[in-house]
Order: sequence, then structure tokens, then C-alpha cells
Amino acid sequence: MRAIVCRELGPPEIHVIDEIPDPEVAPGDVLIDVHYAGVNFPDLLIMAGQYQVRPDLPFTPGAEGAGIVSAVGRDVQSIQVGSRVMFASVVGAFSDTVAVPAAQVTVLPDGIDLATGSVVALAYGTSYHALKQRARLRSGESMLVLGAAGGVGIAAVGLGAAMGATVIAAASTPAKRQFALANGANTAFDYTDGDLRAQLKSVAPKGVDVVYDPVGGGYSEAAFRSLAWDGRHLVVGFTAGDIPALPLNLPLLKGASLVGVFWGAWVARFPDESQRNYREMFDMISRGELTIPAPKVYPAEAFAAALGEIGGRRVLGKVTLQFR
Ligand SMILES: NC(=O)c1ccc[n+]([C@@H]2O[C@H](COP(=O)([O-])OP(=O)(O)OC[C@H]3O[C@@H](n4cnc5c(N)ncnc54)[C@H](OP(=O)(O)O)[C@@H]3O)[C@@H](O)[C@H]2O)c1
Repeated sequence: MRAIVCRELGPPEIHVIDEIPDPEVAPGDVLIDVHYAGVNFPDLLIMAGQYQVRPDLPFTPGAEGAGIVSAVGRDVQSIQVGSRVMFASVVGAFSDTVAVPAAQVTVLPDGIDLATGSVVALAYGTSYHALKQRARLRSGESMLVLGAAGGVGIAAVGLGAAMGATVIAAASTPAKRQFALANGANTAFDYTDGDLRAQLKSVAPKGVDVVYDPVGGGYSEAAFRSLAWDGRHLVVGFTAGDIPALPLNLPLLKGASLVGVFWGAWVARFPDESQRNYREMFDMISRGELTIPAPKVYPAEAFAAALGEIGGRRVLGKVTLQFR
């Protein structure tokens, strides 16, 4: 089979696409002909050896995708050969064939094509878990999304709107703000230019109920200080580089909560709830409440350019690699 192979750790350009042996299908596994594999920020970190997960070399990166089931292992009853599916996997997705445990595979509804299905698991899985189980977002609440045009950011924007929240998008360029507005945000501003708190005050004078924060750095404290009473600040990631610290008087003064989000660890503990989350999102899509923007498709050979969109802070929504 054809796969991207990391033989040493480093930037995307040093890795290769190569022929490697087909995977074994263990009992409980599903073998998938991968058509598309979604690209995520953590892929860059894993390839560079900068993530909490450090697979042994050589390894194939890639954490999600979509394709057609070609075989199922013993004990698998929930998924049939020939089904159109999406899947999540910590690594291994950047290949034309993958074997993953059935619990990490979800049958796609007819209305979702494989390219779009390849970018649902991680970003939409994370953001819905964050908003539903962690923030307990309620209809009518207000929500600030930092990095709103990125993968998890645009998912949070669309899901927040579908859940009845007023969504304030913070993004660094006019094109990104336009993209967020077109995908469910009520208002958008440039959080990288000037005082985030002052800018937010003009659009949400009473503060926001929820902050969705995949960026970190210097923005997190300013965003936390912009919470309303009983606000929830979701810690999702640190694309700005620095992991910020927060003075603990701030949650006290606002009756507010700093809420960690670790989607992968939650899925491992609660796989059935994760599948229920996907079904609820598919229902939102079929009712017309949620639209997943089509990802930008790169041929698998152009993986370095696709990852470069993420590393270069240029991505609008999601990019995906086409393997078949
Ligand atoms: N906690 C979890 O369970 C979980 C699950 C999945 C992902 N994550 C994390 O969520 C974060 C976002 O992942 P993603 O795949 O959505 O990434 P992405 O598509 O690249 O989006 C990240 C956004 O961060 C902003 N950003 C700010 N500073 C940046 C910088 N120096 N370089 C690049 N982007 C920067 C960008 O928006 P602006 O240009 O508008 O600032 C960008 O759109 C990552 O840290 C990832 O590890 C966490």
C-alpha cells in the first residue's frame, strides 16, 4: 500500500510517500480503502516529535479519514464490507489502506461525501464534545471563538450557531473573518490587532458566556477576563506556541470555570457517547442546521504543501489529502 512515511522527525518536507506492507486486520478491526485523509495541526506536531504522542519510527501520520470498508475482522458486527465510513486514529491515516478498531469507525450518511466526511471526526468531534459535554452550552448564550477560521475553530462556529448561541469569531485576516461569518458567526473581529478585551467589549459589553480557545499564548488571559458571570473558558490547544498561566483570582471573581478539553482521551473512555455525538451532528446536518464547509483537496503527493497551509497559518477550515 501507499503511505506517507516518517523515518525521522522534522518538518513535512523531509518525509516521503512510499510503498509499505498492507496492515493486518486484527479481531475487532475494520480495513478501509482510504479515499481522503483530513489534515490537522497535531499531525505537524507528531511529525516533528513535539506532541504528547510519540510513535516509534518509522510511522505513518494522519489522524482521520474516510473511505470504503474492504474487510472486517472477527467480532465486528456493527460495520459491513462496502460501507462508506469515516474514522479517527491517532496515526496511520495518511495511507491508501488503514486498519482501525471498529469503535473508531462511523458509517457516513448518504448526504455527506467522502472528502467532507474525512474532516468530520477530529475537528467536529472535538468541538461538539467541548461545547456539549464540557461547556454545556445553552441556546441564547454568547460564545467567543479564537482562531475561528481554523479546523476546530470553524467547527465550533458552526456548531455553536446550530446550538442556538450568538457566535463572535476572532480571526487574523479579512478572508478568515468572512469565512467565519459565512459559516454561522454573528460578528467577527481581528483579535491579533490591538486590545482583545477592549474590542470584545464593543460587541459583548456584558461579557461572553463561553470562550473556545485553541490558540493560547497571550490571548487566553484577555479572553478569560472577558467572560461573564458563570462563564466557561474551554482550553483546546496552543497554536500560538506558548502555554499561558492564569491568575487564580480571575475564576473566583467571576464564578467562572477554566475547562479542559481532551477529546481523544474522552473518546477512549466513552466511545458510545462519542458515536452518539456524531449521530446528533449528522441529524443537525440533515435538518439544515449545520453545514460543513467543503475541505480544500490536495493530492496525497502534495502532502507537504497541505501541511504547509496549516503551519503557515493560511488554512480556511480544513484541508484533506486524496489517496484514491
Ligand atoms: N483538545 C483537544 O482534544 C484537541 C483536539 C483537536 C485539536 N486540538 C488542538 O487545537 C488546535 C487547533 O487545531 P486545528 O487542527 O484546528 O488547527 P488549524 O486548522 O491550523 O487552526 C488553528 C488556528 O490557530 C490560529 N493561530 C494562531 N497562532 C497561530 C500560529 N502561530 N500558527 C498557526 N495558527 C495559529 C489560526 O487562526 P488566526 O490566523 O485567525 O489566528 C489558525 O486558524 C491545535 O493546537 C490542536 O492541537 C485539540
